[in-house]
Parts: sequence; structure tokens; C-alpha cells
Amino acid sequence: MQKGLFITFEGADGCGKTTQLLLFRDYLISEGYEVLLTREPGAKGLGERIRDILLNYDGEVSDRCESFLFLADRAQNIDTIVLPALEQGKIVLCDRHTDSTVAYQGYGRGLDIEEINMLNNLATKGTKPDLTFIFDVDIRTSLHRVGNNKDRMESSGQEFFNRVRQGYLELAKQEPERIKVIDSTKTVEEIHEDVVRIFKTCQQ
Ligand code: TYD
Repeated sequence: MQKGLFITFEGADGCGKTTQLLLFRDYLISEGYEVLLTREPGAKGLGERIRDILLNYDGEVSDRCESFLFLADRAQNIDTIVLPALEQGKIVLCDRHTDSTVAYQGYGRGLDIEEINMLNNLATKGTKPDLTFIFDVDIRTSLHRVGNNKDRMESSGQEFFNRVRQGYLELAKQEPERIKVIDSTKTVEEIHEDVVRIFKTCQQ
């Protein structure tokens, strides 16, 4: 039985979620919680190798192969990092998780969403986040934040970005209890306040 709390941070590239994840980690620690940080792709060890292929390989990568690499990394993250920490009663903060695959490989690349849901379920052993933040940004803010030094995924173009963003918003509509959308064009401090407020509300 899961004792801890599993919280995921999602959003299109350049949405600022990693900054918010670190601020939220500091907040939770100051409140006395035990926190574990992880990320997908590539938390540590084998995952870092998979991440390197996903972001830097410059030969042909089929959309299905890309999906399976993200899913393989996810299985490793769940088995070796997330589930053991939840078992110890920790709050696990994960930078990207299952919703990324639905948004990027499903809505972005156009793969079948039902099949992705099934594969996600296999990779996670049915573990679901208790709470998910989606940091929503427009394309201009994203491009500005990502800058010129783009990795393989960030080089997928504006149409792709828009499909990913719409995918996330669609997911949030489908699961309003779990998924909270935050306007990520606000200041870092304002966004952090939103995160803490939503977390407190969900704890009640
Ligand atoms: P990363 O550098 O971690 O991006 P960010 O800082 O924006 O999180 O790179 C992860 C990239 O991988 C990002 O472009 C999103 C993409 N991704 C998928 O396409 N599918 C997935 O399932 C996951 C987890 C990430």
C-alpha cells in the first residue's frame, strides 16, 4: 500500500516547471516533510543513458521507438526510485511523468492515445500521481525561455509545441481532480504561491 504522496510536474518545454519543483521542494522541507526528487527521462544510472539517447541522438528515431525509450526509463524510475520512496512515506516530486507521453507522443507525434495509456499503465504498474501541476505557457514565452540551444525534442517545431500544449489542457479537462493548470507566464514567486495554495487545498 502506498504511504507517501506522488506529485508530478508537467508542461511544454520552457514552462519553468523545474524551477518551481525546486522551490516547492524547499518549501516542503521547511514544513518538515521528507522529499525525494526524480525526473523523466533520466533520474540516475541507466535512466541517464536513456535520456542521453532521447535528447542527443542525431540519427533517425521512429516515433514508436521514442515512445518505448521514454516508457523504459519510466519503468526504471518507478521500480527503483518512486515506489521505494513512496513505501517509506516520502513525498516524491517527479519532473515529468505519464502525462508527458500522452502530450508529446500522443498529441504531439500523433500516436494512439489509448495505446499510450495502456503502455503507461504497464510502465507504472498502475501507480498514479496523487497530484499533477501543469505549467501552461504560450509559444512566445516558451521560445524565449528555451533559447537557441535546443535539444532533439525542443527542435520539433511550433506546430508540435501547440499540439503538446493543447494535449496538456485536454488532459486537465479530463481529470480536474488530479491535474491543476497554473498560468506560468506569471512571476516565479506568484507561480510558487499558486503551487503551495493548491497543495494545501488538496491536503484538506
Ligand atoms: P528535459 O530537458 O527534461 O526538458 P524539460 O526541462 O522541458 O523537462 O527534456 C525532456 C524532453 O523529453 C522534453 O522535451 C519532453 C520530452 N518528453 C517526451 O516527449 N515524452 C515523455 O514521456 C517525457 C517524460 C519527456
